[in-house]
Amino acid sequence: MCGIIGVIARRDVGATLLEGLKNLEYRGYDSAGFAVIRDGDGFVVRKEVGRVGQLDQYLPDAAGGKIGIAHTRWATHGPPTQINAHPHLSNDGRFAIVHNGIIENYAVLRELLEKYGVRFVSQTDSEVVAQLIAHEARNGAADPIREAVLRLEGTFGLLILDRENPNRLVAVRQGSPLLIGIGEGEYYAASDAAAILAHTRQVIYIDDGEIAEITLDGFQTHTFANEPVVHAPSRIDWEIESIEKGGYPHFMLKEIMEQPQALRNCFAGRLRPVEGTVRLGGIAPLEDDFIRRLGRLVITGCGTAWHAGLVGEYLLEELARLSVEVEYASELRYRNPILGYGDLLIAISQSGETADTLAALREARLRGARVMGICNVVGSTIAREAGIGVYTHAGPEIGVASTKAFVTQVATLAMLAIQWGRLRGVLSHVDATRLAESLEQIPNHIAHACGQSDTIRAIAEAYADTSNALYLGRGINFPIALEGALKLKEIAYIHAEGYPAAEMKHGPIALIDERMPVVVIATEDKIRDKILSNIHEIRARKGRVVAVATEGDTAIAENASHVIYVPRVPPILSPLVNVIPLQLLAYHAAAIRGCEIDKPRNLAKSVTVE
Ligand code: AGP
Repeated sequence: MCGIIGVIARRDVGATLLEGLKNLEYRGYDSAGFAVIRDGDGFVVRKEVGRVGQLDQYLPDAAGGKIGIAHTRWATHGPPTQINAHPHLSNDGRFAIVHNGIIENYAVLRELLEKYGVRFVSQTDSEVVAQLIAHEARNGAADPIREAVLRLEGTFGLLILDRENPNRLVAVRQGSPLLIGIGEGEYYAASDAAAILAHTRQVIYIDDGEIAEITLDGFQTHTFANEPVVHAPSRIDWEIESIEKGGYPHFMLKEIMEQPQALRNCFAGRLRPVEGTVRLGGIAPLEDDFIRRLGRLVITGCGTAWHAGLVGEYLLEELARLSVEVEYASELRYRNPILGYGDLLIAISQSGETADTLAALREARLRGARVMGICNVVGSTIAREAGIGVYTHAGPEIGVASTKAFVTQVATLAMLAIQWGRLRGVLSHVDATRLAESLEQIPNHIAHACGQSDTIRAIAEAYADTSNALYLGRGINFPIALEGALKLKEIAYIHAEGYPAAEMKHGPIALIDERMPVVVIATEDKIRDKILSNIHEIRARKGRVVAVATEGDTAIAENASHVIYVPRVPPILSPLVNVIPLQLLAYHAAAIRGCEIDKPRNLAKSVTVE
């Protein structure tokens, strides 16, 4: 998500702040800014949309500032604008903050503070933090920062400056990474070691629920309950290049492993298992009656986003009893589609810039249909032109192959199906609660599936020299077969086809022999026995089967050459977990084949041309 750095020193810190931001650029961002306290002058704040380099022009303004904070923003709430960029100031000018994470209860807090006459200037969740601290201070709190932090819900890595305590930098950690760097007579704080590695390898990792107060004499750490905590220093042995990848060899593997956290960020403030509800604020303008009376519902996208749409079709049909059509955007835009008043188009796009998807959205709107987006990049063209929709909050996805973006797209569609199923009166409160509770557990199941990476690498070694492969799935896992095949194609350059398993006998079975590996998604659901029959058909023709099966399903294992077990989840949510082994299989096959995994040949992260 965002990158943050703070410095307190006996020298000007402006250049160190900007240098730190430049070492955080790899994380992906849309705007950047800094604040320093100049001797006796109060804050100097400079922030811009776009590259960190734009802030170089303001370095002279930072002269004299020996304490400061800086930020690269990956927008979650509020589009990328100069006003929404960090740092944010309290409106009495006393506090400056930078934030990494998502404040789930920002809307409630903002409403409360506005009732007290607090005037907000941005559309962000983060500004609430600055205003709340100032509010606590005005109310006489002995420790306004701690009082404010106790009222925040969600994830927050914070760096805070207080004009009335100009020799103190405060760091707060809850659910977002934060560390303190120990320099020569100076100290640093950052969301990521890459920001400060040029100055120190001695760091203290503070834990969730802790506040650190940093001065030139050192730092004290306390819990939110004000209990003192002591952490032993650690030494960072990584080089910057590997830090950017979180210690993983490729961004793609880092992003596969980040999926549990990406999902939790996607659910934050929206999935309410206790109430058995989902609240997707971004689609509030879609009137309840419009959804109840919805005519055609068309989902469109390209590549992996299209596969997410196919999973969405099963979810919305099953849970919201909606008739859904899923169209390739590149096809929809050139047809003469029957789309008009009373219909809804959902455009799915991680980048929010895919030309075909944007064109399909414009075409649907031109014909009178309502449109909404499911995007990852806040303020992207598709998100802006759709006007309403849901951000997936997957965080920056650097690898060209879509992984956490896909999983959060599917999770968003699952939340949408629950919300609309309840609204349309076709999903009971009991079932919605059960589904929401199961959905909330999916990140843990994904983490468990990610733990199979070494097993999957061993399997990949047995098949990495193949030229072809088949991927089979049934029902809601048919799109996962397509997605698994796409991953193998795009990063391992192995020709692979996804098929509904029952379609084998209508042609593809002619391809089966000992040279054709077949990946079969065979997890527990009502058609699992049919899948087992398909596996028998393949084995009878000497085909080699790599099965994805539910833990404990030995019958599948006995009939497959290799089996990858995944945790048992409700079949309707199984695509979220079943895709993980397929992502890892493609990743390891590509690594074994020496492919350029993060930047595969001929591909771009966002296809903004036709
Ligand atoms: C999938 O791994 C690819 N990165 C590609 O198919 C991608 O999903 C497609 O180009 C759509 O991109 P978007 O989600 O940014 O619109």
